[in-house]
This record gives sequence, C-alpha cells and structure tokens, in this order.
Amino acid sequence: MHNHRPRSTASDITSAASASFESCPDPRLRELMQALVHHLHQFATDVSLTEQEWRSLIGVLTATGHITDDKRQEFILWSDTLGLSMLVDALAHELPPGATESTVLGPFYVPGSPRREYGESMVAEPGAGAPARIHGKVLDINGSPIANAEIDVWQNGADMLYAVQRPEAPEDHLRGRYLTRGDGSYAFVAVRPVPYPIPDDGPVGQMLTATGRHPWRPAHIHMIVRAEGFRTVTTHIFDATSEYLLSDTVFAVKPSLLRTFVERLADDPQRPTGVESDWVSLHNDIVLAPGPSGGEIDDPGRTA
Ligand code: BEZ
Ligand code: FE
Repeated sequence: MHNHRPRSTASDITSAASASFESCPDPRLRELMQALVHHLHQFATDVSLTEQEWRSLIGVLTATGHITDDKRQEFILWSDTLGLSMLVDALAHELPPGATESTVLGPFYVPGSPRREYGESMVAEPGAGAPARIHGKVLDINGSPIANAEIDVWQNGADMLYAVQRPEAPEDHLRGRYLTRGDGSYAFVAVRPVPYPIPDDGPVGQMLTATGRHPWRPAHIHMIVRAEGFRTVTTHIFDATSEYLLSDTVFAVKPSLLRTFVERLADDPQRPTGVESDWVSLHNDIVLAPGPSGGEIDDPGRTA
C-alpha cells in the first residue's frame, strides 16, 4: 500500500503521482507510467491548461472512443495525424543502408487477400482507374534475388476509395498477394493510385479543420513484403508526381519510396493482357534486411 502526505503545489502533485508507481513490480510499466505522468504534467504546466480545455480534451477522447469500433480505429488515426505512428516506426526500424524503408500500415489493410499469379490483374471492377503494370524484384542487401517472397498489395481506385470502404465493391478488388519467381521478380496489374483524404468525419477531422490542416495523402500503393529469413517490411510506393508529397497528413512520405509512373500507349507491345487503353508502368525493386520475419500483422479494426 502506497502512502503519501497531502501535497498541494504543482510540483508536489507531480511528485506524488509519479511516486505512486514506485512499487510497480514490472520495471518497464513503472518507467512508462512515471514518464507519462511527468510529460503529461509538464504539458499541462507549460500551456497553463485551463479547466475548460481539460474538459474539452476529455470530450475529444470520449468522442474518439464512441466512434471507434471493430472497423473504425480513431485512436490510431490520432496517432497517425500527430506523427506518433511514424515516430514509433522510426524507433523500431533501424535498417541497414539500402534496405527498403517502412511506413505506416494505415486503416485499410485487410489480411487474407487472394493469392494471385505472376502478372495477374487485381482489378476486379471495370473503370477502376488508369491501368498500371507494377514490376520489379525482391532482393537482399547484396543484390541477390529472393525467391518466394510474398508481396501483399492494396490500394485505392480512381474514386479515391479502397474496396473495403465500399460494401458494394467485390471483396478482392485492388488487393492481392503475389509471390516472387526464382529470379526474385514479381509483376501485377493495378491502377494508378490517386490522392485521397483520410476518414475525416470524426474527432480527428474536427482537429484537422480547427487547426487549418488538410486530410489528404499523396497517391500511393501499399505493400507488406515477407520472406523467410528476412525482416518483414510494411511500406508504400509513392507516385513521385503526386500532390501532397510535401504535406502528407500522416507524415509517411520518405524520399526513398518515390517512384515514377511511365506513360505507355495502347499499342505498346508490352501492354498487359486485358488492358485495351493507354496505360502506365512502374518499376520498383524491394530490398529486404536479414532477420526474423516476425508474426502476421494482428491489427484489430483498421478498415475505416
Ligand atoms: C492509408 O494510407 O491507407 C492511411 C494511413 C494512415 C491514415 C489513414 C489512411
Ligand atoms: Fe493508403
């Protein structure tokens, strides 16, 4: 049982709250809770937090809880839009030079995408956007090919939406899992992604509006790349010509992830099967760092 004398100055209160965790049996939990108290109190002190502001903060957290369910994760959206997700990612992923960098997972990842053949299209609805052939190799940091690496891909269509955001869309639209061939190569047909606003009809959207920020992300394709004996990387390919590269609302752009789509004509002999119109192609090699690949992503409720 922790005893403490009544205290009243600001620093007495901070000390007492911090000391209340002194006998926490788990040293890491003690460190986390004491640092949380310290920084939280310092924040309130620095800005001279008023009672009204404290109440509205509680209101924001309450609204965040109310809008969050197994499909919508507004707490992670706060983390994304405050740059915390990218900070935690940076702290966790020290990579050898040349390895493909990671970036945010985002809310639209759905595990269990269909396995698809080399070169197969993942476009399950007509009119989803400009056809795009994405191809490249998965390599190790010495440039040797990695066979049987899995590339788990998902992206939005020209309507700005991921299939998971549209109940009427075919479930497997614009997502798929591809395996590299013996020479490390992979290829698939997708559409050119477009910029889109993150879900902004909740408390995070209110914050963006109130602070004069926009909700937009630059055009990108998501990938999780896994291979036995290598570290799994969760990453994006960004369209190097997209709007919002310099103001991504979740701070996820890394210069090493920018790629250029090449415009191709309908009569180009390399036109993929099933494509009738002008199209684009994009070359993207992925370099994996050695190490254990870790488990499957277990990310509850991130689909909106
Ligand atoms: C996304 O790229 O899918 C995403 C990432 C973070 C927040 C919202 C969307
Ligand atoms: Fe996205």
